[in-house]
Amino acid sequence: GGLVVAPAAGFVGYLYADSGRSNVGTLSFRNRLRIPPVLEPTIDADGRRRFRLALGEGRTELLPGTTTATWGVNGPILGPTLRVRRGDRVAMDVSNHLPETTTLHWHGMHLPAVMDGGPHQPIHPGRTWQPSWTVQQRAATLWYHPHLHHATAAHVYRGIGGLVIVDDGDHDAASLPNHYGVDDIPLILQDRRIDDDGTLDLSDLAFSGLTITGLLGDKILVNGTYDPYVEVSTTLVRLRLLNGANARIFHVGFTDDRDFSLVATDAGVRGTPLSLNRLMLSPGERAEIVVAFRPGEEVVLRGFPPPLGANFAYQRLAGGGDTHDLIKMVAAATLRPSAPLPARLGREVPVPTPTRPEPFRLEMGDFHLNDRTMDVTRVDRVVRTGSVELWQIVNGQSIPHNFHVHGSAFHILDIDGSAPPEYLRGDKDTVYVRPGATVRLAVRFLDHSDIRWPYMFHCHLLAHEDAGMMGQFLTVSPQDAPLVPAGPGAVHD
Ligand code: C2O
Ligand code: CU
Ligand code: CU
Repeated sequence: GGLVVAPAAGFVGYLYADSGRSNVGTLSFRNRLRIPPVLEPTIDADGRRRFRLALGEGRTELLPGTTTATWGVNGPILGPTLRVRRGDRVAMDVSNHLPETTTLHWHGMHLPAVMDGGPHQPIHPGRTWQPSWTVQQRAATLWYHPHLHHATAAHVYRGIGGLVIVDDGDHDAASLPNHYGVDDIPLILQDRRIDDDGTLDLSDLAFSGLTITGLLGDKILVNGTYDPYVEVSTTLVRLRLLNGANARIFHVGFTDDRDFSLVATDAGVRGTPLSLNRLMLSPGERAEIVVAFRPGEEVVLRGFPPPLGANFAYQRLAGGGDTHDLIKMVAAATLRPSAPLPARLGREVPVPTPTRPEPFRLEMGDFHLNDRTMDVTRVDRVVRTGSVELWQIVNGQSIPHNFHVHGSAFHILDIDGSAPPEYLRGDKDTVYVRPGATVRLAVRFLDHSDIRWPYMFHCHLLAHEDAGMMGQFLTVSPQDAPLVPAGPGAVHD
């Protein structure tokens, strides 16, 4: 196919392959965006805020005139938004009404590993899992999703997932748009393959020679809505973007190339807003942006082909050359004026200095890490509570990967020896690792010591994760360190 390189502000250029798929012109933006409802907790006698989540099967109208069998939480697809505040004691009742065992992981939440909802906390059909913890982190947009080993891709794809919004005092003061569903709008971006009769195509969820990243869908859902629009009623709108796809990278921007302000990365609000017109999100990553609107205008949020260089192999191997309209934003004839975007947002978190100089090296190979596939009985790393480690992630393949660490937050120190672009500075928990790249992270671990229950690190392309591109680490205090059992079987089961 022929290649056209089109220069664009802020990037070397965009690479378009004429084989790239596109839905541009095929949508009519006729379905009002579903806004996941905020789930009100009940308050226990001891003050704990208790959220009840029921996972079950349902049917959802996605394509007009058809229904699709989907899975959801307290409803047929996706799940409610949980809002918690720093300092809250929270408890979850997660009941599984699905026909299969699953788990529910709190992606980005800082909590003890036994509450993490990873592969070691299965919830069997008919059972209820009840983790509880105290919220101890900065304002951020987090999410929850299944994490059962070998089944994560299918369970997320069928529809289980939702947002967790953490609020804190610092951040409220920053006066960002915060009227949920009105000027503070969540956008969960996912791709699916759906047949004309509404059947969800479940083939290719695992990687193969043809789908090296696992399934890429041609139908885009936003909050479980196909062909969506959303009304805008204020001059500034905050969008909480989550890439909830199994494999697809979204490189988002507006069709008129307008600028927007990045105000938060995965794990927290930025110190200052950053003006951009494109933003790349790999699976699992989040970003909060603030966009300005004029009365009566309409603009489409689109997933564009990736920038040249950063993503070349992705575009060939994973449909990254595709162009997908995501949602139309329709501004009312008169808009309520928003408070201006503050020049300072949250407290700037300094890049932490690793407490051990030698890096922990992880080489991403053929669906393993350091030549090992995931083993739930093996501990791959023991870290000290409260420490900062230098983790060096090398993608030795010509396949795109990304990397997520549980029970921590990190800063990107460098990518191939150069400082990361400004939009990747700030607190994160998931990072894209392009083919051939070396990414170095300063990872800050939590204070919860546990010698039996591990946290996970893994590629967040779900087919890769399911195939075993995942490892386990324990976070252990110096006092507990001598008690860590050695060798295979070290983990509780
Ligand atoms: Cu979003 Cu280990 O997961
Ligand atoms: Cu996670
Ligand atoms: Cu991968």
